[in-house]
Amino acid sequence: MPSATSDDWWRTAVIYQVYPRSFADSDGDGVGDLVGITQRLGALAELGVDAVWLSPFMTSPQRDAGYDVADYCDVDPLFGTLADFDALLARAHDLGLRVVVDLVPNHSSSEHPWFQAALAAGPGSPERARYLFRDGLGRDGELPPNNWRSVFGGPAWTRVPDGQWYLHLFDSSQPDFDWTNPWVGDRFREILRFWLDRGVDGFRVDVAHGMIKADGLPDYLPDPDGGSMGGDEPDVPYWAQDGVHAIYRDWRTVLEEYGPERVLIAEAWVRPLTKMAHWVRPDEMHQAFNFGYLETPWAATPLRAIIDDSLAAFGAVGAPSTWVLSNHDVIRHPSRLALVPPPPQGDGLGPMSPRKPDEVVGLRRGRAATAFMLALPGSAYVYQGEELGLPEVVELPDAARQDPTFFRTGGKLYGRDGCRVPIPWEAEAPAAGFSPSGESWLPQPESWGSYARDAQRGVPGSTLELYTAAIAARRAHRLATGDLEWLASAPDVLAFRSRELTIVANTGSTPVPLPAGEIVVASGPVGEGLLPGDTTVWIR
Ligand code: NOJ
Repeated sequence: MPSATSDDWWRTAVIYQVYPRSFADSDGDGVGDLVGITQRLGALAELGVDAVWLSPFMTSPQRDAGYDVADYCDVDPLFGTLADFDALLARAHDLGLRVVVDLVPNHSSSEHPWFQAALAAGPGSPERARYLFRDGLGRDGELPPNNWRSVFGGPAWTRVPDGQWYLHLFDSSQPDFDWTNPWVGDRFREILRFWLDRGVDGFRVDVAHGMIKADGLPDYLPDPDGGSMGGDEPDVPYWAQDGVHAIYRDWRTVLEEYGPERVLIAEAWVRPLTKMAHWVRPDEMHQAFNFGYLETPWAATPLRAIIDDSLAAFGAVGAPSTWVLSNHDVIRHPSRLALVPPPPQGDGLGPMSPRKPDEVVGLRRGRAATAFMLALPGSAYVYQGEELGLPEVVELPDAARQDPTFFRTGGKLYGRDGCRVPIPWEAEAPAAGFSPSGESWLPQPESWGSYARDAQRGVPGSTLELYTAAIAARRAHRLATGDLEWLASAPDVLAFRSRELTIVANTGSTPVPLPAGEIVVASGPVGEGLLPGDTTVWIR
């Protein structure tokens, strides 16, 4: 395993997110699958990433694209079988790629046998005590137990026929567990062991800031716009409660039974960073997605501030910072950064959006932002398709949309389908090589072929070659463990020294003088001693 020799591999890793529905479809049903991923893993080894994180592929009715799990220890037939998973894992390890799987512990699917048993067993039963059932308010209990809103819009409570209500911070098909009930913790320890025994290298933990709710489930003043994964508002009684940390300390001991190399990664939308850092204290998780960085606009002053704050906050607890620009929940970063200011997470983009991103500006900015990110010390995340420069798909028809956000807000928010469109592999193949039948669960735009991997592979200046070169140079120059030293620069420019390289990003539109030296990586054309706007270079 070339890139995976040390216990601390995760401190420097580039981790590639595979969204299984949209990566590669081997059987032609228009939905990606595990065999498809296995067949295409070579491309990820070639890209040079260290690890792959797989979004959920477990048994699920797919009401929230697999984040609604009905069996934590099996593969959904849509994606294949456990044997397919074992083959994927073996192939990845042969290629030197670690594999991290998604774990969804805040809620199950309403079709999970545990929730079905809770419904059948009735109020006051031990089965109900595994979830958050409560009696309603009002004369006949006809009002929800409190005023909490679902992240996807609408109330966070749904009433069942016997009159009780259950809590779901997300869709009504995603009932929240009661993590104060030890039974729940016992089951999740078993689930961790199930996947660790199969050989996975770690877990990305979904909604790792939501599992414990404030005692008594008190009301609060909700954000009237909804749509946020949380963490942006202070004192929300279901986000970032202290009780979650005991859970991760417990899980850390389970992982360590399997040696020092298995990792826990927190999806925790928590602010400020000094608080998010609590998730990655030495006896808790290994790293957390840096959503503060993701949400920072493409501008020198706020970027420098978030980088300093991140290195200080994570460094204070001995954890690496992480860097991330895109994932399956946000507008793809080339499109997002083309809009100033960027739309909030969850809003999405669609045909009626008041602002549409310029594809050319977006790609230039997106490439510059990635080239900058990959030079930073710590661990970086890449979301499938960003190495191809894919934009957000804005022109998806309403009838094709599947994100519950779109339905639960009555179409007010477009949600996340636009970043989930199946990715293109071969310009001339059906479904741009995504599926042998030409089927695709979300329609691919006409232009998709021009972004295909085979149209970019080996082509100087392509986005794929930029990512490949930057990842290789990052490793060759050991930037992930470099000391970042800021250099004096013009107002819109970010410049720092790390190891033997100088990294310069021009976030403005006016060209600035280019420092002398050999160009190791350039996100776009540079010439005549000038660094154009929206361009990043690494210079030796
Ligand atoms: C965060 C996941 O990334 C998102 O896709 C999902 O909808 C929610 N958690 C609920 O599980």
